[in-house]
Amino acid sequence: MRDIYVAGNWKMNKTYEETKDYLEKLQQLTEKIELNSIKTLLFPPSLYLQPCSSSLKNSAVKLGAQDVSEHTKGAYTGEISALMLKSIGIDYSLAGHSERRQYHNEDDELINRKAKAILAAGLTPVICIGELEEEREKGITNDIIVKQLELCLAGLDSKDEFVIAYEPVWAIGTGKTATPEIAQEVHSLIREKLKILFNADKAEKISILYGGSVKVDNFAELLAQKDVDGGLIGGASLSADDFFELIKIALNQ
Ligand code: PGA
Repeated sequence: MRDIYVAGNWKMNKTYEETKDYLEKLQQLTEKIELNSIKTLLFPPSLYLQPCSSSLKNSAVKLGAQDVSEHTKGAYTGEISALMLKSIGIDYSLAGHSERRQYHNEDDELINRKAKAILAAGLTPVICIGELEEEREKGITNDIIVKQLELCLAGLDSKDEFVIAYEPVWAIGTGKTATPEIAQEVHSLIREKLKILFNADKAEKISILYGGSVKVDNFAELLAQKDVDGGLIGGASLSADDFFELIKIALNQ
């Protein structure tokens, strides 16, 4: 039995006022439902993690950072360490989101170091992988995914707790969702590779999330796929009403 995740990645969106309104609304909406059978995560901008953590103190909704430094501490202006996140009660961090790869030149080796820094601080990394549109068109998706897994997960142990997010870059923020069949095909390839990198038992336990234009009207069919264990949701997580609908879909799955 794998954990099912509904994870909202706000990216660089919302003022503090909007953040407070969102959390208030989400808490009202989720007040009467039991969330414990799934994992509900929010990745707000880092600036809001501390206030979000205070307002979600008694909530089953957990928080994660969108990015983290590979370093523990020191002269790295503008950076935030995993240890700092841990010290304010944050449980997760993304590593290697495609927008970090695209706009900040992050490569698989750096993402691997970030994943290790996140684990070392006692947080769970959500390691993001996915092919570009031209890579899919060239028919090399599988090679790209396998290589990303090998490099991003190098040196990790079967005792390490981590989550994989498969986010085809051509589907992120474009409204072009992978069909459930495409998602399942890649998720199953990922699980096969995880068996080789770790072992069959570990591979069966790792949650693999799908991300890329997940919406209220396509989430159920994606989640119905055998190897899709939740969603990493950008645009549709920005509305508390839509995020709540996505949570309900996962609860009813
Ligand atoms: P999207 O973003 O749902 O807006 O496509 C997903 C992501 O980038 O995590």
